[in-house]
Amino acid sequence: MDFGKYVRTVPDFPKKGILFYDLMPLFGSSEGFPRLIETIAESLPTKTLAHVAGIEARGFIVGAALANRLGIGFVPIRKKGKLPGAVRELSYALEYGQDTIAIQDGAIGKGARVLLVDDLLATGGTAKAALDLLEQVGADVLETVFVAELIGLGGRERLAGRKIRSLLTYH
Ligand code: PRP
Repeated sequence: MDFGKYVRTVPDFPKKGILFYDLMPLFGSSEGFPRLIETIAESLPTKTLAHVAGIEARGFIVGAALANRLGIGFVPIRKKGKLPGAVRELSYALEYGQDTIAIQDGAIGKGARVLLVDDLLATGGTAKAALDLLEQVGADVLETVFVAELIGLGGRERLAGRKIRSLLTYH
């Protein structure tokens, strides 16, 4: 299926000069969204997974649906200050400033096989931080799947050595 037909481009969002790739029409489509989840599910390695992990917030949409389709649990990687109890945090640099992501202690057992998903790969900073965090808690990340990838922003290079895949690419 051509999932790209559901993707809308919005100029000057969230600020002037940025062309925003809006995946909400894909997620909102009763035809497209189930097919998207099915396509990802069918393309996964045959090894049994323990969890799908997804990155806040749009990674939750794909990740939770996929986990449900696979009959396994979903583990959220959230922005700082959102998860209760003991957490492990990791800070990473943004273009201006920094951000911090967190995962709950014990959410993923040592050696557990995990698939990481997010909606978009741009500079790769978020995904790299999430992969580093998952490695720190001992997860065995088999692969990272993105719905869309913006080529030319360095994401793929930043994630060199990691197994990554995108369903849609934009130049
Ligand atoms: C977006 C997107 C990815 C990240 C990609 O998230 O959902 O997580 O940016 O960018 P990068 O490759 O340059 O790190 P955003 O921070 O906008 O959060 P949201 O999903 O909560 O809207």
